[in-house]
Amino acid sequence: MATIIKNIGLLATPTGVIAQSGDAQGAIQLIPDTYIAVKDGVIEEVGKAGSSRDWQGGEADTVVDAQGLLVTPGLVDAHTHLLFAGWRQRELALKLQGMSYLDILAQGGGILHTVEKTRAASLEELLDQGMKSLDIMLAHGTTTCEVKSGYGLTTEAELKSLRAVRQLGRQHVVDVVPTFMGAHAIPVEYKGRSTEYVRLLCEEMIPLVAEERLAEFCDVFCETGVFTVEESREILECGKRCGLLPKIHAEEITALGGAELAGKVRATSAEHLIHADDNGLDAMAAANVIAVLLPGTSFYLGEAFARAKDMIDRGIAVAVASDFNPGSCPNESLQIPMNIACLKYRLTPEQVLTAATLNGAAAINRSGSTGSIELGKLGDIVIWNAPDLNFLFYHWGVNLVKTVVKRGKRVVG
Ligand code: NIG
Ligand code: FE
Repeated sequence: MATIIKNIGLLATPTGVIAQSGDAQGAIQLIPDTYIAVKDGVIEEVGKAGSSRDWQGGEADTVVDAQGLLVTPGLVDAHTHLLFAGWRQRELALKLQGMSYLDILAQGGGILHTVEKTRAASLEELLDQGMKSLDIMLAHGTTTCEVKSGYGLTTEAELKSLRAVRQLGRQHVVDVVPTFMGAHAIPVEYKGRSTEYVRLLCEEMIPLVAEERLAEFCDVFCETGVFTVEESREILECGKRCGLLPKIHAEEITALGGAELAGKVRATSAEHLIHADDNGLDAMAAANVIAVLLPGTSFYLGEAFARAKDMIDRGIAVAVASDFNPGSCPNESLQIPMNIACLKYRLTPEQVLTAATLNGAAAINRSGSTGSIELGKLGDIVIWNAPDLNFLFYHWGVNLVKTVVKRGKRVVG
């Protein structure tokens, strides 16, 4: 099966398996007037600049005409909480009255509201909701995405959620990477007994998740009133012993020391990092921890914006993801966080493109197979209603996707 995408006005892609230096993060390859040939799902040929000849590799089954527009790799969303039941639109009024995210959580709302609904939902209901969100993501250009559990918070409900995530990956064309996040909140029945909940996580949930191979990563919400640095360390170390790679929600709302911990446990990535200090960033740089930044959440919570430029200057690889979830960022599109990253972090379009493709892929261990348009990687490609890369960051707030090709198959547009 071969697909050729011809008449590409401008191909914009990072290259390699991660962009870790300041220079690399902005080093997008720009190839005008080109074509891409994908065979059996994998990129086989990228025409050279100036060459508008057709693919020489034989008959193509599908020809996609890019009509002279911009083409990039499919977007890689490295941080989502898309599997849940229990939207929280009722919290909008509380927010507008000045109630904070952590106050709402402390009163049993927030994540805990979604937990109540998720526990009551069947696997099929969760799957159905997840499929709908993935459809929206795909329509906005996301071809690979991470999905966290963390709205179950009992052994049974966490396993149900992760089994639904596995099913999602089998049924949807978007590639799904599962993360166990039983350490997303202290469930009501363990209020004031966090030590016991941590024990349940470490002695029961994590070993079962690992045994059933339901997740690749283990994440924890290291935050005031949620999990302390010490508890987070215990959970992540336990995950590591069971073969789950560490990730950590760090310094999202308060500065607690999660970024430093990320360095100490050699986490694959640390997420949010809004209030990360120099020590935290130094520890991350020293341990090659990827910063997964979530500017849509800063915007939606009315929080500050992470120091993305400082991170890049220190040699930290920066990814940008959606954080799609029903509380702090109810939005599936990765385009809007990309726009916010450009304008609020003041990153260049090139740096943000790397963040939302190659470095996102690196943050979920997929950069050997996706995240850039290079020979041997998957044919995950977006054609944009945009003539060049700047346009993508300039004409904002609307869906600029024209066509999405996933593993060589035209799936949108
Ligand atoms: O990344 N901080 C914890 N988790 C999510 C929010 C989840 C929710 O509010 O439902 C986040 O912001
Ligand atoms: Fe999150």
